[in-house]
Amino acid sequence: MKIIHFSDSHAGGPAEDWLAYLDKRWVGVFNYRFRRRFRHDQGKLQKAVEYILDTRPDVAVCTGDLTSTGQPGEFALVREVLKPLQESKIPMLFVPGNHDYYVYREKCVRAMKEMFLFMNKGGFGFDDLPIAKEIAGVQFIIVNESWPSNLISSCGYLKKDSSEFVERLCSKEKTSPRIIVGHYPLIEDRPLLRVRHRLWGQKKVLKLLLDKQIDLSLCGHVHLPYEKIDETGRGEYCAGSVTRNGCMSEIDYDKDKNIFTLKKICLA
Ligand SMILES: [Fe+2]
Ligand SMILES: [Fe+2]
Repeated sequence: MKIIHFSDSHAGGPAEDWLAYLDKRWVGVFNYRFRRRFRHDQGKLQKAVEYILDTRPDVAVCTGDLTSTGQPGEFALVREVLKPLQESKIPMLFVPGNHDYYVYREKCVRAMKEMFLFMNKGGFGFDDLPIAKEIAGVQFIIVNESWPSNLISSCGYLKKDSSEFVERLCSKEKTSPRIIVGHYPLIEDRPLLRVRHRLWGQKKVLKLLLDKQIDLSLCGHVHLPYEKIDETGRGEYCAGSVTRNGCMSEIDYDKDKNIFTLKKICLA
């Protein structure tokens, strides 16, 4: 069973309406204009799509931050690039990042929800989260942790109903591997340093991961890829930013040996 996991491609563009200067979007637009657009090579996302189409995994997982400010034009840009993947037979799972669900402006929320449906191939909508899906003998638990927040915070929040949903699922007998898909890392070992970027409300779910009731956590948000795993490959994989570092994770699950193996893909 093979998973390809990518994240944080951060397409960007200008403010799409004057109200953007009154909400958080101006921060994201400014950040994109003077910093992000020089750091993120959108051509790498194109290469990622080609790699996934060639490799034909059992599922492609994207853990969000496809955009910089969650505006319709940014989603339209990335949609064009991801279209061949969406039209392929490869199952896909997607959760939005904090940059995709950036503000409560109606047209932005609508664009995010449309992108969500597109990326999950119409299987379920944003409002259906949290949800569990069985793909190729693996149980995927898909949760939203991204909500619009104030100008300086990039924190996420796993709401109580989502945490309880995961706890209920994990209280049942485990008959197949369980993988949780979210935007933020569950394991936080620098809580003070990362106080503006961390995930809140995740403690009970983190315990399930550490107790191996959940086998893997797939996340993004942090742009450098890393893994915090044991000798069986169980733990947390952060894919990093595909457009900043050209990185993706290719994860194989060997049912007979009951182990996960990670291969880091570096796109040239
Ligand atoms: Fe990001
Ligand atoms: Fe993020």
